[in-house]
Amino acid sequence: MAPSTTSPSSPTVNSAPSSPIDVKHPHLILRPATIPERHYSWVINSPSWRGILTENAYYLREAHLSYQDLTRNGGIMYWVLVDPAGPCKPACPETPDHILSACETIRKPCLIVRSNGEVEDVISYGIGGVYTSERHRGKGYARTMMQLLGHQLKDLPDPSDPKKAHVRVGFSVLYSDIGKQFYKKVGWQPHQSSHISFPAKLPSSVSASSATGKVKKIAKTDLKALCAVDCTHIRRFVAKTPFKAGIKARCVQLPTVEVMEWHHAREEFLGQYATTKAPTVKGAWAPLTPTAEYPPREGSEGLDSAWAIWTHDFAEKKLVFLRLHVPPVTSANKDAVSAALRALVVAAAEEAQAWGFSEILSWNPDDLTEEAVKSVVGEESYDLVHRENDSIASLMWYHREGGSEEVEPEGIEWLFNEKSGWC
Ligand SMILES: CC(C)(COP(=O)(O)OP(=O)(O)OC[C@H]1O[C@@H](n2cnc3c(N)ncnc32)[C@H](O)[C@@H]1OP(=O)(O)O)[C@@H](O)C(=O)NCCC(=O)NCCS
Repeated sequence: MAPSTTSPSSPTVNSAPSSPIDVKHPHLILRPATIPERHYSWVINSPSWRGILTENAYYLREAHLSYQDLTRNGGIMYWVLVDPAGPCKPACPETPDHILSACETIRKPCLIVRSNGEVEDVISYGIGGVYTSERHRGKGYARTMMQLLGHQLKDLPDPSDPKKAHVRVGFSVLYSDIGKQFYKKVGWQPHQSSHISFPAKLPSSVSASSATGKVKKIAKTDLKALCAVDCTHIRRFVAKTPFKAGIKARCVQLPTVEVMEWHHAREEFLGQYATTKAPTVKGAWAPLTPTAEYPPREGSEGLDSAWAIWTHDFAEKKLVFLRLHVPPVTSANKDAVSAALRALVVAAAEEAQAWGFSEILSWNPDDLTEEAVKSVVGEESYDLVHRENDSIASLMWYHREGGSEEVEPEGIEWLFNEKSGWC
């Protein structure tokens, strides 16, 4: 059976109940887009997001991305804000002006860990493509849409798998390109949004071959094993590491192979348009010990190696780390972790140069990563940027029904908040 990319499978057009929450436009409804509405949304939002692609290629990319393992079978949903009383033909929208605002959501597996040690597997939704066509802007439609969406997502478990029907939605995230205020006002709290940026051209004193001698290039076929090991590590790490004062709960979007492959489907599509080639090197792995195995063994946590999984950004000509797996640092392994991180920095610089890119980015780096970058490229040659306007990682928390927990936005720690979570 051909996979469906819209869920619920057949949106009931214009029949949702009136708004249950206080919004500026209580007569409007937010519902899953019909297929023609989805396609038309791509037509109208392409000037904002097609980047280096032609309109047709952008349209094809969005369709391509909707058929990945992460997104098929309802993993991605497309939403439209409409007036249920308005004149529209949703199945054949010759006059698609009835779409007041639109957006999309991608469902992802996540974890919540509470300060009492309880670990809960949850779903989160990543929200993207928030758009109001120009003629409708400034009337409060995007705000109304986001308020309705935040409310509706809370009660939207995985419809594709009855076995997961009990898994609740723990939170939703978005990455704002319009600063911190707009989404904060409707419930998405901005979290740390920094990145380290360093040049692909290394100082002549850095010997690439000695730094990367034991480094392995990560191929697509290795990602499944690496991501599984990384997720095992993250599960254990978030449960056993002591909580900082004031933190009531932690949340993590798991960097699964499906998440990585969605990013790579995007880079491969764009790479072929930009250069006719698709990148085959998906990252680099560096051992901490002589006995470290590549790829790491199933069920292990990968504590004897470090690795970066990256994506090639052909629009900006940058190499971006999706996930940097760094084992917890102890006095016994600190030097080995530092050496491995330096080797990954050099390997990333080599990969970036091979594509003619000038810059590498890693989101929310820890101190040891910054030290490694500094020691390879020099103090003057890297930047630690705290973003104020673009890709602001923002999170809406969903309390458990009937629970007595009081988790304030400041009491939530978003761990492993790296580029892999972006959508
Ligand atoms: C951003 C966008 C969705 C807003 O849609 P809208 O229906 O006009 O929004 P609303 O009328 O509900 O709210 C307007 C608010 O958005 C803010 N806003 C709009 N564009 C903004 C921008 N580029 N930077 C910061 N704030 C912006 C306005 O200042 C206004 O805030 P206020 O109500 O506090 O005065 C729309 O301008 C758009 O589609 N832009 C292009 C795509 C885009 O940037 N999407 C957001 C990606 S994160």
